[in-house]
This record gives sequence, structure tokens and C-alpha cells, in this order.
Amino acid sequence: MTLLPPGLDEADNGAEIIPFYALLPQHQPLMPQFHRRLDDVVTESAFVGGRWLEQFEAQWADYCGVRHAVGVANGTDAIELVLRGLGIGTGDEVIVPANTFVATAAAVVAAGATPVFVDVDPGTLLITEASVLAAIGRSTAAVIVVHLYGQPVDIDAIRPVTDRHGIAIIEDAAQAHGAIGVRRRVGSLARAGAFSFYPGKNLGALGDGGMVTTDDYVLAQRVRTLGNHGRGNAATEHIDIGRNSRLDGLQAALLSEKLPDLDRFNARRRQLANQYRQRLADSPVSLVETRPGVDPVYHLLVVQVDDRDQFRQRLAARGVETSIHYPVPCHRQPAFERFGPGYLPVVERAASRLVSLPLFPTMTDEQVNRACDIIIGATEGGPR
Ligand SMILES: Cc1ncc(COP(=O)(O)O)c(C=O)c1O
Repeated sequence: MTLLPPGLDEADNGAEIIPFYALLPQHQPLMPQFHRRLDDVVTESAFVGGRWLEQFEAQWADYCGVRHAVGVANGTDAIELVLRGLGIGTGDEVIVPANTFVATAAAVVAAGATPVFVDVDPGTLLITEASVLAAIGRSTAAVIVVHLYGQPVDIDAIRPVTDRHGIAIIEDAAQAHGAIGVRRRVGSLARAGAFSFYPGKNLGALGDGGMVTTDDYVLAQRVRTLGNHGRGNAATEHIDIGRNSRLDGLQAALLSEKLPDLDRFNARRRQLANQYRQRLADSPVSLVETRPGVDPVYHLLVVQVDDRDQFRQRLAARGVETSIHYPVPCHRQPAFERFGPGYLPVVERAASRLVSLPLFPTMTDEQVNRACDIIIGATEGGPR
């Protein structure tokens, strides 16, 4: 029997499994640093607030190229608190692409506003200026652009539309840490950015975490107040009805240890994605298109195929794990159906054809090649 690296298993035919994602190989080399930071945080009792949080907030603001970064408990809260910080709530509508993780829309509802789901571009599966324009009404207060799968939305195209109507753009950058949308990083492209540090994200904590980025001092202060029980400057003065949504000192300290690897890991993700793109160019599998002039970070490597179930079964039988993001678009989820809007052709067709292929920064060239051999075999009647 071959000895496999930790986390790997064997497929039915004895071949090594290609996992959809693997976190341990990313974390193992950092284990001594993680232990040191745990020691520091426990010794200093710097669990909530404190220097580790302040350090990471400053690092993240600097990395994204914004003036302010405010740690919160998760990415969903980051979106909700930005909306509330901007005074958006009951009676307001917020435009959201239907092809996103439900948290984008749930945050809108949590803020008291109404999500208005819109269709996306068939090539990139991202929200477009045309879909925004078609959905704008008298109650529209904001548009949430989701940099889905790690690819920046074309905000420059959307901005003239939103500016004309006095509407804020908020970036959901939960899947796009470090991506560059023409010269500037996501999180700095609009009124505010919302990040998730869920463990599987491009920059993930060892638990939950989130961050709001903005150049707007007043908004940053509002978000900090709302996420800290409505406290003003004095710990005993509560100037708003807030709640508890903070990034733990320990998670902040661990994220600081992981941040130096982010650009290298994103570059590796791009290499792997290019390798997939080249190998699958002549196959019936079509990759989500990349916009010219942007630097995506391939949080997910998503393709579209006919007969998805059979495709995934064939891959699974040969040891290639896959996933789907997202099989049911938000507006078709039972929780959100009441918000409409009925049929959205691009999102709905894509939802039945999407497959996410394995991609993670410690994946090897050999693993991608083997995955591609199996994919090509599964789609062209070759070895199965
Ligand atoms: C696009 C998108 N938005 C929002 C979220 C919510 O982030 P969190 O799980 O940290 O609340 C996620 C991730 O889970 C996401 O992928």
C-alpha cells in the first residue's frame, strides 16, 4: 500500500484521491508560529480587542489600499453592518446577484432591507451594469457586487449607473481576497468592502472571522460601534442599538501569520487555473470566463458541463472530488422565494450546469494533469 500525504485517501481503483480542497498542508508549516501566537494571546489575555486585532486591521487596510479596516465576526455580519452603517434598512431595496452564496442576501434581510435579485453575465456569471440598471427603482439604496469565485466585478461600468441614482456600491469580497480589479485591490473599489475569513477562503482564519474595509471614517466608526454593543468612545456609553460582532484577538493574530503567504498562494491558484484552462481548451467543459485586465484569485475553479450528475459521478469514481457553487440560485431557495423575481434565465441555466473542480494552493501540477486526464476521459468517451 502506498503511504499518502495526510488528508489523502484512495479511489476505488487504488489511485490517490484528488481532494476538492486541502487545508492541512497549508497550515502544517505554520504550526510553530500558531503556537507562539496562542501563547502570546493567552499570556496577554488579549482575546477581544487589543494589539493583535489592531495590528491585523492595520495590515488588512494597508493590503487592500484603504484607510480603515474593522474586524467583525464573519463575512455575513460585515455586509449587514455596512448596510446598517449606511443607514440602509426597512423600506430600502438592495440589488443582489442571484448567483451568490445565500449569506449576501441574508445580510440584506438581517439589516431590515429587501433583496432584489438580478441575473448575471453568461460568460463571467458576475453582476453587470445592465442587470443593475434594469432593477433600479425608487426604493433602491445600494447594489452589492459579489466578486464571485475570486473575480472582480466591473465596477467602473456599474458606477455611472449608481452615481446617477445616488446609490451606494458595496463589495462582497468574501471570495476574492487580494484580487485586483484594474489597478486596485477588491475592498477598495467602492464605498465599502466586506470580507469573510471562513477557513476555506483564500485568507482563512482557524475559525470564523470577517472584516469591513472603507475609506469612509464615519462609516468605519459606525460599523465598529454597531458590532461592539453600540458603544461610543467611552466603554460605558451606548450610542446605538448594536450587537456583538467582533474579530477575536486570537483569530486576528493567526491571520497576521497567514497574510504573508496570500499573494504567493493566489499566484499559485492562477497558475493552476491556467493549467486547467489550457488542458481543457478543446474539451466540452467550459470554464467561467475571465474578464480582460483583471487579476482574479480563483477562490473556486468553476466550469459548466452538460449532464452534470453523470460527469460528477465519473470523476468521483476516478477519485476526483468536486462540488457545486451554487446548485440552487438564491431566488429559488425556499427562504428567499418570497422576494421574487421569478425567472432569471442565465442564473437558472448555469445552476444546472455548474461544477467546481479541485483547486487549492498546495495542489501539484501532477494533480491538475491527472484531474484533466480524467475530465477529458469522462467527457469524450475515453478512459473512465
Ligand atoms: C460570496 C459570499 N458572501 C458572504 C459570505 C459569508 O461569509 P461568512 O460565512 O464568513 O459569514 C460567503 C462565505 O461564506 C460568501 O462566499
